[in-house]
Amino acid sequence: MAAYIVAALFFIISLVGLSKQETARYGNLFGMIGMGLALVASIGSVQPNGWVYIFVAMAIGSGIGAFFARKVEMTQMPELVAILHSFVGLAAVLVGLNSYADSGQHVLDPAMHTVHLVEVFLGVFIGAVTFTGSVVAFGKLRGLLSSKPLMLPHRHKLNLAALVVSFVLMLVFVLGGGESQFALGLMTCIALAFGWHLVASIGGADMPVVISMLNSYSGWAAAAAGFMLDNDLLIVTGALVGSSGAILSYIMCKGMNRSFIAVIAGGFGTDGTSAAKEEETGEYREMTPEDVAELLKNSSSVIITPGYGMAVAHAQHPVAEITAELRKRGINVRFGIHPVAGRLPGHMNVLLAEARVPYDIVLEMDEINEDFADTDTVLVIGANDTVNPAAAEDPSSPIAGMPVLEVWKAQNVVVFKRSMNAGYAGVANPLFFRENASMCFGDARATMENILKAL
Ligand code: TAP
Repeated sequence: MAAYIVAALFFIISLVGLSKQETARYGNLFGMIGMGLALVASIGSVQPNGWVYIFVAMAIGSGIGAFFARKVEMTQMPELVAILHSFVGLAAVLVGLNSYADSGQHVLDPAMHTVHLVEVFLGVFIGAVTFTGSVVAFGKLRGLLSSKPLMLPHRHKLNLAALVVSFVLMLVFVLGGGESQFALGLMTCIALAFGWHLVASIGGADMPVVISMLNSYSGWAAAAAGFMLDNDLLIVTGALVGSSGAILSYIMCKGMNRSFIAVIAGGFGTDGTSAAKEEETGEYREMTPEDVAELLKNSSSVIITPGYGMAVAHAQHPVAEITAELRKRGINVRFGIHPVAGRLPGHMNVLLAEARVPYDIVLEMDEINEDFADTDTVLVIGANDTVNPAAAEDPSSPIAGMPVLEVWKAQNVVVFKRSMNAGYAGVANPLFFRENASMCFGDARATMENILKAL
């Protein structure tokens, strides 16, 4: 028990550490120590004759985990997280069904028996929703499933019906003393289909929120498993993951100006139609890396807004060198980070920290948005949706109302990407055709290296 309390404290300290870039490394370390302690304490509480199974399972699991974690690219992280959430969901379903099958062996008083049945039912329900929801999220992020929202007729009614029928089945199951295997089985099938439908009906642009929402669900599924297994640490850990995932979802919804309910109810996202809009095409200007170097030399303030393209091109190192070079010349260089830039929360901050860009010049969108109007040059490096003026100016745009970095207010804007294609949300970007904007085409890393050379 003492080990569990210490491990829980480590998890809490870990979350505190993870909330700031400067302390994130320690946050991870504390989390690892806490998890190590939890593992030793959990294994220690099992009969030694069961250890061999645990060690074999752990060796296989950690082997597979280490292999994939080493191989995965930073840009594929959301996919990895999604599939890991599906394992938590599946584990909760299996623990629930096992705990139900096993409950005959223990004599519980009637009140505790009822509580146990509720735990089993809810645990299986949350786990099943998390499982299929995460599998669909993985498929969408991987490109195996279409990122278009699935628009079944009466989809909200279908969701509501799934919830109501599951609730009725819970009453049948619990009031019937757990006799009805049919109710448990039918609810499991409904919850699997519900999880699938819930995420399938959410469009590409809302996927970031979905991932953090599934993160939260996986926490609640783990907490439910903790109740079934009578494991206090699993309850605490699950609750920490569940609530931090919920807070993150809320922050991301705020960052995208979306209501949480609207996101989970689904139906928003990319259908590609807006990308073909007539008025969004037109004349654009081009610049070479040498032109950009010249422009930078003549600027006294520069803001860099990175996005997903900087991550895939691994351009953060030459970007950091350009920053250092410009700062040496007395130019004020800062970074503006959109809350959903890249493919996972904090993606850009991690890359810039890795390239040793000082933390104090990396600012959040809210901290820097007012300053674009007084800025000479903005470099938009592999970002698209997060700097799209349509979000602020075109009420019919699918991303209308989403707060964006207002880069177009600067004197000069240079956009670095490989083509005129739309970004992740599939929405055309009128920024490219603005008077003060120029395009610099090519792979972001090669372009940045050329600018550095020219500087
Ligand atoms: P995007 O809108 O996806 O734009 C990235 C741009 O980078 C693309 O337009 C692409 O244009 C360019 N690019 C790709 N590879 C490149 C390369 N090698 N060199 C140069 N440019 C390259 O990215 P963003 O502005 O960061 O916005 C993020 C989007 O992802 C939002 O829609 C957000 O909702 C979504 N999202 C975010 C998250 C989180 S939590 N951050 C998770 C999932 C999804 P070209 O193809 O023309 O090169």
